[in-house]
Amino acid sequence: MSSRVFRAPGRVNLIGEFTDYNDGFVMPAAVEFATTVAVTNRSDRMLGMHSANMAQHREFPLDPAAHPAKDWSDYVRGVAVILERLGHRLQGADLEIEGNVPMGAGLSSSASIEVATALALIGVSGLTIGLKEIAQLCQRAENEFAGSRCGIMDQFISCFGKAGHALLLDCRSLDSRLIPIPPGVRLVICNTMVRHQHSSGEYNNRRADCEAGVRHFARLLRHVRALRDVTLADLTRHGDGLTETVYRRCRHVISENARVERAAQALEQSDLDTLGILMAESHRSLRDDFEVSCPELDLMVDLALASPGIRGARMTGGGFGGCAISLVEQDRVNDFVKQVSEGYRKATGTTPELYVTSAADGAGEVFPVA
Ligand code: GLA
Repeated sequence: MSSRVFRAPGRVNLIGEFTDYNDGFVMPAAVEFATTVAVTNRSDRMLGMHSANMAQHREFPLDPAAHPAKDWSDYVRGVAVILERLGHRLQGADLEIEGNVPMGAGLSSSASIEVATALALIGVSGLTIGLKEIAQLCQRAENEFAGSRCGIMDQFISCFGKAGHALLLDCRSLDSRLIPIPPGVRLVICNTMVRHQHSSGEYNNRRADCEAGVRHFARLLRHVRALRDVTLADLTRHGDGLTETVYRRCRHVISENARVERAAQALEQSDLDTLGILMAESHRSLRDDFEVSCPELDLMVDLALASPGIRGARMTGGGFGGCAISLVEQDRVNDFVKQVSEGYRKATGTTPELYVTSAADGAGEVFPVA
């Protein structure tokens, strides 16, 4: 039986960290790393899945009341479960899953699995569902099934990325705007090789801190529904009743939202100097106020900022390890990679991985080349 193949990329975030679940702004780009899912339909109501990366096979009945298995299969089955909970009747299917998004590196390997799976299941079942809805249901799969209370950024950019562009997304309205990344600048993703793990623990704790902030401000200011609605002036004027920690969490989110809007303008004007300054401020805010960096990420950013061709650097994604993103002049990339790699290896004893990449296209079906 012939199969259809669908592909969804990972992402790197240029700026706007931990703002998505605060109804704020983000500016990610899809990357060239991706997950592909080859799907074949079957006549029963079973979902078979094989992960080439894990060399594991799983098989489950299609059941909207299913419970998670607490392993990689949850990202796949979660999507099927949410589709069925939304009232879509799925066809049984076998999925062959393979990807090259580095896992646990903060480049959204899980979102790329979810989105590629969604496209495959929708395709094989003959359903029509818009890309925005696909991004939202994949986020739901992660929230309700895989157990991370992530925002919409990763799934959205995996669906809507465009080669050569970053995407400014308003996570409340889901309005978005593509912004070209100037030619001559490469995205260099610097992997600390420290694995992050945010499906539990710290990620959800930060989200709870933000919610505590929202409750405080909503009591005082009637229009406040999310930290998106709070200004730095509000924080200064009404921040007294917050714990010191929640105050700093709020300060990060509020200032980061403002930085994203300024960064989008700067990128639109190819003003990389301003963008670089905003990225550095973002990193400091994530390190000091939101406390999601780690010594290895701080080191990587410092090394990047001191290396040839650098235009901007910061940690990217969920933090506690994973990657930093650097914007680097194309003709200095080789020197940049050499200097950062050597510096990091000398300081830590670990050889980092540096991926020189460009913004890539979002998810879709892969057709065989004739
Ligand atoms: C993870 C989550 C995203 C976002 C980032 C932090 O990647 O999946 O929704 O919250 O962390 O910006």
